[in-house]
Amino acid sequence: MLDALLSMDPLTVVLGILSVLFLLKLMHVSDNGPPGPTGYPLVGNFPLLMSGNRPKLFDQLRRKYGDVFSLQLGSRRMVVINGYEALKEAFVKQADVFSERPPADYISIRSSNCKGIVRSSGEFWKNTRTFSMRALREFGFGKRSLETNILEEVSVFLEVIGKSNGDAFSLGTIAQISVSNIICSISFGETYTHDDQNFKKLMMMIDNHVKLLSKAAISIVLPSGQIPYRYIPGDVTGVEAMGTNYGNIKRFLQEQIDKHRASFQKENVRDLIDAFILEEMTRGKTDYLEDENLAIVLSNLFVAGTETTSTTIKWAILYLISNPHVQTKLRNEINDVIGLSRAPSMTDKPAMTYMDAFMHETFRMGNLVPFSLLHGVKKDVTFKGYTIRREDLVVPNLDSGLFDESLFEDPRTFNPDRFIGEDGKLNGKEHTVLAFSLGRRVCFGESLARMEVFLFLTSLLQRFKLLPEDDDSLPSLEPIAGVVNHPQQFRFKAIKVN
Ligand code: HEM
Repeated sequence: MLDALLSMDPLTVVLGILSVLFLLKLMHVSDNGPPGPTGYPLVGNFPLLMSGNRPKLFDQLRRKYGDVFSLQLGSRRMVVINGYEALKEAFVKQADVFSERPPADYISIRSSNCKGIVRSSGEFWKNTRTFSMRALREFGFGKRSLETNILEEVSVFLEVIGKSNGDAFSLGTIAQISVSNIICSISFGETYTHDDQNFKKLMMMIDNHVKLLSKAAISIVLPSGQIPYRYIPGDVTGVEAMGTNYGNIKRFLQEQIDKHRASFQKENVRDLIDAFILEEMTRGKTDYLEDENLAIVLSNLFVAGTETTSTTIKWAILYLISNPHVQTKLRNEINDVIGLSRAPSMTDKPAMTYMDAFMHETFRMGNLVPFSLLHGVKKDVTFKGYTIRREDLVVPNLDSGLFDESLFEDPRTFNPDRFIGEDGKLNGKEHTVLAFSLGRRVCFGESLARMEVFLFLTSLLQRFKLLPEDDDSLPSLEPIAGVVNHPQQFRFKAIKVN
C-alpha cells in the first residue's frame, strides 16, 4: 500500500488527500452536523482525541465551537455535549431521544450481545432495567439486610487497615474486593471469604474484562457491525480475547443461576437471581427474562459497580489527608451524632449534613466517569440547531458539568461548604452534581453506591485519623485518566482513635 502510494504522481496524492479532507469537512456541513476541527484523511480527528489530556481538549473545543461540537473518528462521528444546561436539555428534557446506546458494534456483539442493562437499548433495555430495579428494591437496595452485609464488609476493611499499625501503606485492592463481595450478596445471596477460590476467579475475570475492554475500545471507530473484523488477522484490537474472557464470566454466572434453579423455592426468594426466576415463572419466558440476559445483568453490576465505588473511596481518603480541617469537622460530627460505641447506620445520615456535603464534593471533584458512557439517539434529531444522526456516538461530557463555573465558584478547589446554606442545611446545589450522569440512563447503582460510600467513610473516620505519609509532600491530586478517573498510587497512615 505504501509502495503504491510512493509510486504515484505527487499531484495525484495531494489531490487525493485534499478530496478526502473535503469529503470529511463536507460530512460536517452536508447534514448540518455540529461543528468541529478538520481531521486527517481516513482517521479524521482520532489522533487529536488520543493526543493527551481529554478534559482539557474538550474544554478548548467547547470554547471554540460551543456546547455541542463533533469529532470525526474514522468512519464514526462523535458528538460531545457540554455544560450543565445543554446536558439537561439533551438527556432530561429530550430523554425520549437521547437515552439510547449507539447502534451495535462488534465489541458489544462479542461481549454482552447488546443485552443486560449497560449496553442494551429501546424496549428491551427499559424492561430489563425496570425489572432489575424493582427486584433489587425488594431484595437488596433499601433493605436493612443489605446494610448489615455492607457493615460486615466494612469491618473486614477496617481490620485490614488496622493491621498497618499506624505505618504508611497503600490501600491496594481491599476496597474493590469488599465492594464486589457486596454485589455477590445481592446477586447470589451469599458473601465469600476474601480468599475463596471461586470468588478470586470471578474477581480476576472481571478485572481482565475491564483491561481487555479498554484495549478493544479503540475499534469502536470502525463501522458498526462485525464485517470488518472478520478480515482483520491476529486479533490486533483484542476484541476476540475480550469476547473469550467475557464468555468465561457468563459461564461462571450461569453456574450460579443453575444452582439457584435447583434449590429455588418460591416462598423464599433469596436474591436477585431468585427474583428473576420467580418473574419468569409468573410471566413465562420473554426476550428479557432468560438466562443469558440475567447473566449479563449480573456481570453489569460487578463491572459497573466495583471500580467506580472503590475508586470513590480512594479519592475520599486522598481528599481527607489533603484537607485535615475537613477531617476534623467530619470526626466532630461523627462524635456528636453516633459517638464511638456503636457502628454507623443509614438512619444517622439525615443528621450528618457535613458528611453529606463532603460526599458530594468527593463525587464532584473525583469526577469518576468524566465522559459517562456512550449514548446514542433513537433517530436523527436536530439539537441546538445541529443534526445528530442515529449512528453517531454521543458523549455526555459530565466533566464539563462538574466543573461548570456558572454553578460552582472556584470549581477546582475542594470545598464541601459550597453545599451548605446559611441555615446549616444542604442548599440544593448538591442536586447539580452529575457524577452519576442524568436522565433515564442515570447510574443504576446510585443509591447502593451512596450507601456504601457513607458507611465505609463514616466507619473509617470513627476509628482512624488519616494522615499523609509525609507532611511536607502531599500526594498528587491529578487523576490518571481513563473511562474511570483513578488517583495516582499513594500511601497514607491510619492512626487508631478508637
Ligand atoms: C460512585 C460510584 C458510581 C459512579 C460514580 C457511577 C457512575 C455511573 C455513570 C456515570 C453511568 C453512566 C450513565 C449514562 O449512561 O449516562 C453509570 C451507569 C451504570 N451504573 Fe453506575 N456508578 C457508580 C456505582 C455503581 C454501582 C454500585 C452499580 C451497581 C451495583 C452501578 C451500576 C450501573 C449500571 C448497571 C449502569 C448502566 C445504566 C444504564 O445503562 O441504564 N454503578 N454509572
